[in-house]
Amino acid sequence: MATPITEIEDLKRIYKRRVPKMFYDYCESGSWTEQTFRENTTDFDKIRLRQRVAVDMDDRSTATKMIGEDVTMPVGLAPVGMTGMQHADGEILAAQAAEEFGVPFTLSTMSICSIEDVAKHTKKPFWFQLYVMRDEEFLENVIRRATEAGCSAMVLTLDLQILGQRHKDIKNGLSAPPKPTLKNMLNLSTKWGWGMDMLKTQRRSFGNIVGHAKGVGDMSSLSSWTAEQFDPRLDWEKVKKIRDMWGGKLILKGILDADDARAALDVGADAIIVSNHGGRQLDGALSAIRVLPEIVDAVGGQTEIHMDSGIRSGQDVLKAMALGADGTYIGRAFIYGLGAKGKQGVTDALNVIHKELDTTMALCGHRKLTEVGRDILLLDDEFN
Ligand code: FNR
Repeated sequence: MATPITEIEDLKRIYKRRVPKMFYDYCESGSWTEQTFRENTTDFDKIRLRQRVAVDMDDRSTATKMIGEDVTMPVGLAPVGMTGMQHADGEILAAQAAEEFGVPFTLSTMSICSIEDVAKHTKKPFWFQLYVMRDEEFLENVIRRATEAGCSAMVLTLDLQILGQRHKDIKNGLSAPPKPTLKNMLNLSTKWGWGMDMLKTQRRSFGNIVGHAKGVGDMSSLSSWTAEQFDPRLDWEKVKKIRDMWGGKLILKGILDADDARAALDVGADAIIVSNHGGRQLDGALSAIRVLPEIVDAVGGQTEIHMDSGIRSGQDVLKAMALGADGTYIGRAFIYGLGAKGKQGVTDALNVIHKELDTTMALCGHRKLTEVGRDILLLDDEFN
């Protein structure tokens, strides 16, 4: 009998065995020294919880809303580039698992399955994540496609004007798309299960970009396009312009500073995501959970505040909610599940987190997430 999945670490172990090293490392890495990547998780451990007893816990729920949408728990799936390389049809399977669970799914600009692929295989609107590219025509097109596919929110990522360097990816020769070098072929061919799975599916290939951007008719022209397209000129004027081009809800991702949070209010963001991109951009930046209280104090109540980076358990979700977040996201935690077991693995990850969230909330004496506040936390000095 298979060992039951009781924690996210279980999925990570299976994931590591199943996918090629190149894609495991792509997920399980941060930029430069990986200090921020590490602290994103270790800082959660510095927050302790206050137990309460003798409160009726019979009728309780983790359900709430994120940007006005009902969610069974405030845990969305974060946008993750190349998800479809972790498991064939990865974005479709993750979107379906999220839909069935009742939480948001966010499709990355750098996904393997296209907006249309995901829309075709899901029933409810999903969210689309936009990277601002230099190519204005591409930008207009992709926003139009997300609108036509019925996406209800756009997550505009602001912290990747310039790509943070990740040593492992360079050493592994990873690029988008992976180049067919001898080293890469050896790396990919070591995992037969994964290889067969990829072969079985219809070939999908960076479907948001290939065939939709100037000069990118096929995969061979994609890597030079992506290398030069992330727009370093992105500023608040441009954000405002995109706000006007997009008719749905707008979520600004990658905020770590109170002044930037106030600027996000000025452009009319429906929510912001306090995030350091999972430690993949500015190494040395504070962990997202440490920055969260400062942002809540600056703009709480004026826009929704979501957070990601470092969440590996339902306890982490509860800690973020207690510090004032209105919602959270998981990135790696669902990728471990997807790479390990496809759609079932994503559902497993959501189940694990839900169970931990529900139990911890109850043992802290609360039946509803909206009741939870900083009083359930015991914070080290650095969080005050
Ligand atoms: C990401 N992230 C990301 N963010 C984004 O806006 N667009 C993207 O395409 C990607 N791609 C991506 C790939 C991989 C492999 C990872 C791990 C992350 C960042 C992601 O949305 C989220 O901010 C982090 O994953 C959150 O941190 P945890 O939960 O992974 O610790």
